[in-house]
Amino acid sequence: KEAVRGRERRLADLAAFQRYLFSLARELGRGSLVGPLARDLGLSADELPARKLRLSEEKQYFTVNEENGNLYVNERLDREEMCGATATCSVSFEVLVHNPLNVFNVEVAIEDVNDNSPIFRKSFLDLDIDEMIPPGSRFPLEIAHDADAGRNSLLIYQLTNDPSFTLAVTENPDGSKQPELVLERALDREKQSSFELVLMAVDGGDPARSGTVQVRINVTDANDNPPVFSKKVYEYMVRAPEDVPVGSTLVTVTATDADEGVNGEIKYAFKKITERASKIFHLDSETGAVTLLQSLDFEEGDSYELQIQSRDGGGLFDTAEVAITITDINDNAPVISVRSALSEISEDAKSGTVVALLQVQDQDSGPNGEVRCSIDGDVPFRLEKSLDDYYRVVTARELDREQVSEYNVTVRAADGGSPSLQSSAVLCLRVLDVNDNAPVFAEERYSARVAENNAAGALVLTVRATDADWGQNARVRYRLGEGRVRGAPLSSYVSVQAETGALYALRSLDYEQVRELRLWVVAEDGGAPALSSNVSVEVQIVDENDNAPQVLYPAPAAALGSGSGGAWSGVELAPRWSEPGALVAKVVAVDADAGQNAWLSYELAKATEPALFRVGLHSGEVRTARSPLARDAARQSLVVVVKDHGRPALSATATLSVVLAESVAELLAEMGSAADEAAAAAGEPAGSLTRWLVLAVAAVSCLFLAFLLLLLALRLRRWHRQQLLPPASGALRGVPVSHFVGIDGVRAFLQSYSHDVSLTADSRKSQLRFSRRIFPLAISDRSQRVRGFVHRFFFTKDRL
Ligand SMILES: *[C@@H]1O[C@H](CO)[C@@H](O)[C@H](O)[C@H]1NC(C)=O
Ligand SMILES: *[C@@H]1O[C@H](CO)[C@@H](O)[C@H](O)[C@H]1NC(C)=O
Repeated sequence: KEAVRGRERRLADLAAFQRYLFSLARELGRGSLVGPLARDLGLSADELPARKLRLSEEKQYFTVNEENGNLYVNERLDREEMCGATATCSVSFEVLVHNPLNVFNVEVAIEDVNDNSPIFRKSFLDLDIDEMIPPGSRFPLEIAHDADAGRNSLLIYQLTNDPSFTLAVTENPDGSKQPELVLERALDREKQSSFELVLMAVDGGDPARSGTVQVRINVTDANDNPPVFSKKVYEYMVRAPEDVPVGSTLVTVTATDADEGVNGEIKYAFKKITERASKIFHLDSETGAVTLLQSLDFEEGDSYELQIQSRDGGGLFDTAEVAITITDINDNAPVISVRSALSEISEDAKSGTVVALLQVQDQDSGPNGEVRCSIDGDVPFRLEKSLDDYYRVVTARELDREQVSEYNVTVRAADGGSPSLQSSAVLCLRVLDVNDNAPVFAEERYSARVAENNAAGALVLTVRATDADWGQNARVRYRLGEGRVRGAPLSSYVSVQAETGALYALRSLDYEQVRELRLWVVAEDGGAPALSSNVSVEVQIVDENDNAPQVLYPAPAAALGSGSGGAWSGVELAPRWSEPGALVAKVVAVDADAGQNAWLSYELAKATEPALFRVGLHSGEVRTARSPLARDAARQSLVVVVKDHGRPALSATATLSVVLAESVAELLAEMGSAADEAAAAAGEPAGSLTRWLVLAVAAVSCLFLAFLLLLLALRLRRWHRQQLLPPASGALRGVPVSHFVGIDGVRAFLQSYSHDVSLTADSRKSQLRFSRRIFPLAISDRSQRVRGFVHRFFFTKDRL
């Protein structure tokens, strides 16, 4: 400095005017010493007061001390303010010296001092650099400013060492330097997302000053990383059972993305999915959870393959496959579908007839879908497996509607799951009737008793037959079997009401004609062909006392008619010498009824001489009660009442005329008068010719009678002797004297009485063989008369 000062002084000296240079090293504050002005002007300290140093300047930057003559800074000097950024800056002024007056030109050069550091506007510089920017790219950096001038403001930039970045400085058109950051190598945010560098600006001062700015480099993310699934293939043998509840999460896929922000935001979506699967699975786009939208059904699909894509915000993606395997659960009961079925079956259907065709299906698989079928209960049906899952229900044996008319066949199907699921189907089967049952009568045979003389149309009995069949096949109708009764068709006697089986008598029945009816009633059902059965019906006709006894002998007057000898009948002979108990006559009567109704008894109702005769109660024999006396009238009249034992009893009377005579002449006389009386009673004209004729006949008859009597007496005697013999000697011994025997409705009687019984004959003649002799005899049924000479005979059923 001293050297500079001396040189400047010399230069000033050399200049015509005395110019003094001072330089101020730096901006100085007030009162700072600039330099020893007086000394430099050559003035000594002693002379100073006299010389009166004065500064002439517009602005009083400086002052001079009057005592020591030094120049001081009066006011703070600011070079930048006074001179700006010019390289040289000086203040010149004149110094006046008095005594002698002299003027000196003084120039104070104000020198720059490196007192300013380079300054960056900000202390931090934030830079966002995309990680994808290629190396070599440049980024302008902040320029630093230095308030100093000249060398002091000359700036050099420096950057902290970093392999990724270097610094380049270019020159701006205005000459200033522009620092630039140069990317040396590719960035990877994922490796290093930020850098902190320091940019330093150094000035050229001495000592140099520097300023720094912190450069914070933020590597901005580029979507350079795709999302990556944690597994490429998610083999979720989810063994997800098909009954997983709706809403469950089956699997959660996760993908990661190294990028950040939007580029790292992953959304999941199905990439490839079937229509059906899309209805079943839901993918949460945020979480990657695959949930169930609807219940799974193994039977609809047993596995699903889903392709899931994860996509980040930058559009990069990754794909993963999810295989979901569904396991079967026995959630389906077997289903029985009746493909076709009969609702009715005829009971005569053959064993093995197909009744229904069923299809049995189970949606499950494996054992869960294996179905076993069976039929409930003990029914005559069995299952036959047809093809695959078809079953036939067939009859196992023949059916019988009469036992079971309706079946509810329950077919049960159970699968092999655990627990096993079941289902069943009921087949309603009606068994149709076949006419396989004939009507069956309630009783094995029917019999009824009907009193005779019934009203026509009277109900006799009702037969009843049932038929186990159904409907028309069970509709029983009755009819009469063929038959004849006494030559007339049975149907003229009885009829059967077809619907009710009531048997009616069509006419009044007469026991005396028909004792019983044997008939068949046929019951026939309405089937086609009809079945029938018959039952025998026996109708017994019960006798009623509807027939009065009929006197056969003596013939009633009305019955005699005008036949020859009619007058003779009814006149009995009784010798006056008769012993008491001698048989005089026998009243013969028959009763067409049977039993009690035909059991006759005889009573003497009226007699001329009641004490003379008596009548055997049951024999009808008229015997003398005592010997006839002389006073007894020759002609006796007896009225015998014949009564049966019916209830009420019926009776008939027989009138007997008995002639008591000593001799045949007397007898004839009496008989003649009797005949006359009889003739008179009959109202016949008593012609003489007739009378003679009568007499002649009577005479012959009497002779004959006498002969008979003789014969009779002989026989009686012989018979009497035989009676005394041991009983073994005669077949007819021991037979009661009066005895009714019935043969074919013929009433006959035994009598030990000889008489001419004059009876009318009828066509049916027969001969009876007597034990010893043959008696020509006409016999007849019932009301028919018997003509013959009866000595002694009886009829029995099997022997005579
Ligand atoms: C069969 O079932 C029906 C109802 O379905 C019932 O009315 C009928 O009585 C049943 N028959 C038998 C024999 O069980
Ligand atoms: C009644 O049935 C039997 C068999 O039971 C038969 O022999 C007879 O001929 C039948 N009679 C009539 C009249 O049908």
